[in-house]
Amino acid sequence: VAPPRREATFEAAPNIALIKYWGMRDVARGLPYNSSFSVTLDRLRTRTTVRWDPTLPSDRFVLNRAPVAGPAADAVSRFLDLVRAMAKVTDPAQVVSTNNFPEASGLASSASGFAALAGAATASAGLRLSGRDLSRLARLGSGSASRSIFGGFVEWRAGRRPDGRDCYAVPALRASHWPELVDLVLLVGGAPKKEVRSALAMQTTVTTSPAYRARLAAVPKRLARLRSALRRRDPRAFFPLVIEECDEFRHVCETTDPPLDYLTSTSRETLAAIRAFNDARAEPRAAYTHDAGAHVHVFTLRRHERALREKLEAVRGIERILRLRPGPGARRLARAGQA
Ligand code: ADP
Ligand code: DP6
Repeated sequence: VAPPRREATFEAAPNIALIKYWGMRDVARGLPYNSSFSVTLDRLRTRTTVRWDPTLPSDRFVLNRAPVAGPAADAVSRFLDLVRAMAKVTDPAQVVSTNNFPEASGLASSASGFAALAGAATASAGLRLSGRDLSRLARLGSGSASRSIFGGFVEWRAGRRPDGRDCYAVPALRASHWPELVDLVLLVGGAPKKEVRSALAMQTTVTTSPAYRARLAAVPKRLARLRSALRRRDPRAFFPLVIEECDEFRHVCETTDPPLDYLTSTSRETLAAIRAFNDARAEPRAAYTHDAGAHVHVFTLRRHERALREKLEAVRGIERILRLRPGPGARRLARAGQA
């Protein structure tokens, strides 16, 4: 019998939710109230190497070449505990990770981070998990990480079972499905670092926002319509649904007590610019969405890109625009290496 492999490297990308995950029916198991839907992005990525090492006194977490202590390291250790229990190992592990984009700024570093960690930690411990099992595991590190296991367009099924066995992400449409579609990520200057994890913030929405119940009632139909609009590559249906969902997400955040406000004045000006861009023509040409952060993702079609960029030039405070496309899911790299 060959000795188990002790080290593995995985890469995973963040995703942007088109139908948001916001609120858990079971916090301990990370079970959401509603199914969500996202696009896994190209170009942005986390690369994580896990090495099990019996000579270490405890787990070590190195992020972007700096050793991490405190809550972020504790979260990684708790996640490793799950893998230790699955693989029946007791060794500490060294986790070395690099993100090629800023953390805690609304670019979903926790999604790519825990997707890459789920892959690298299990593979290095000698476990071979299906995509579905990896998704269920990644979910316990960060809900949105369950979706970053897969590439392209991904649906995270909320499931109904109390034990969460039917709660995992599934690939919906391939990354190449709609070649005309692009995501311009507007990096907003002066975006504050997030103070409260989304997983905590969302539960204050569940318990205090008077708009939350109506949202839960509306999401399933919106998700079905979005899936169908995407399948048909229909911008007239797709763009308005993305905006509708984002506006509702923002509304339940703003009606949370105390209110959750993730946007800056630049973010808000961007949303207004996109609305004006669509109002100027009979057909919608773009859609905005944002997560719990100030950066704004703008989806458009290649043929509208130049006009859209001209419109955005008038918005002050946009530091950079990343042009992203749907990308691949989490994958193992043949050899360990630095990102
Ligand atoms: P973001 O908006 O970047 O997703 P989150 O609050 O969701 O912000 O996640 C940021 C947290 O995710 C960080 O504080 C850190 O604990 C964790 N994180 C970020 N990058 C990684 C990584 N590569 N591996 C493991 N955890 C990570
Ligand atoms: C607004 O999965 O990032 O991005 O467990 O705190 O990392 P943590 O929560 P997380 O919450 C995602 C919230 C969202 C919507 C979404 O991605 O579906």
